[in-house]
Amino acid sequence: MPTDPVNAGVTFDAKTARSVERGYMTPEIAHQRARTLAALDLQTGDHVLDVGCGPGLLVREMAEVIGLSGQATGIDTSTAMLDLARERCGDLPQVTLRDDDLRALPTEANHFDAIACTQVLLFIEDLAAALNELARVLKPGGRIAVLETDWRGCILNTDNNALTRRMFDTWDDVAVSPNLPVRLHPLLRDAGFSDIEVEGIPIINTTYEKGNFSSGFVRGLARKCKDRGVISDTEAKTWLADFEQKDRDDAYFFCVNRYLFTAVKA
Ligand SMILES: C[S@@+](CC[C@H](N)C(=O)[O-])C[C@H]1O[C@@H](n2cnc3c(N)ncnc32)[C@H](O)[C@@H]1O
Repeated sequence: MPTDPVNAGVTFDAKTARSVERGYMTPEIAHQRARTLAALDLQTGDHVLDVGCGPGLLVREMAEVIGLSGQATGIDTSTAMLDLARERCGDLPQVTLRDDDLRALPTEANHFDAIACTQVLLFIEDLAAALNELARVLKPGGRIAVLETDWRGCILNTDNNALTRRMFDTWDDVAVSPNLPVRLHPLLRDAGFSDIEVEGIPIINTTYEKGNFSSGFVRGLARKCKDRGVISDTEAKTWLADFEQKDRDDAYFFCVNRYLFTAVKA
């Protein structure tokens, strides 16, 4: 297995890892983590797994809830992400971070009380096999929380509709499943999960300010499209300048919906 997965269109190298970390520290994603944590209903002493833990923000919060008598394991295939997670969680002895692939976990069956998997499955080809593997390592009665985004339903106020469509087509190619939420319920059911519930978590920004989720996202998308030769430097500047103008006109609008699925292993 490669250390850094090139999952269809994204490599989680040091630069991307830092950029993901910045995006995930915004208040919008902190709120999403709080919802995920609440849905998992963790207890002191639990053994928990964060699948594709990235920069370690969620695994740290999970570890704080389960306390020193618990065990929080974060796994990821990106060295750069694991480095960030180690920096973040170094002071918590109940955290273990491992370079493991979610598709083949070196863990015995029925081990974990709870599993979180946020923004990872969109990069995975064989979702049935991946969810079967997560079901295998979860204890009967254990809870799983899976969070994914409907990137095809992202809406924003722009004067440049054709350009925006071209850019979102490129974004579509970055993930294997850019609108995975529509398929997650049957996938979870077929992997043996029951009591499946779903909650929508919209990310809405009405200002284009540095430090909010969408400003980082649109800038990152412009950079990615430029790097891939999909748009020119002028087009990137025009696209972003329009958002600055919208902000000045109090007309900026961005929304994308995340979906938090929770389920129990029967
Ligand atoms: C968009 S980030 C999400 C990080 C984290 N779950 C969060 O929500 O903050 C996706 C992460 O999934 C990891 N990943 C992708 N494919 C993986 C696989 N097959 N096994 C484990 N981790 C994987 C990537 O390296 C990356 O850190």
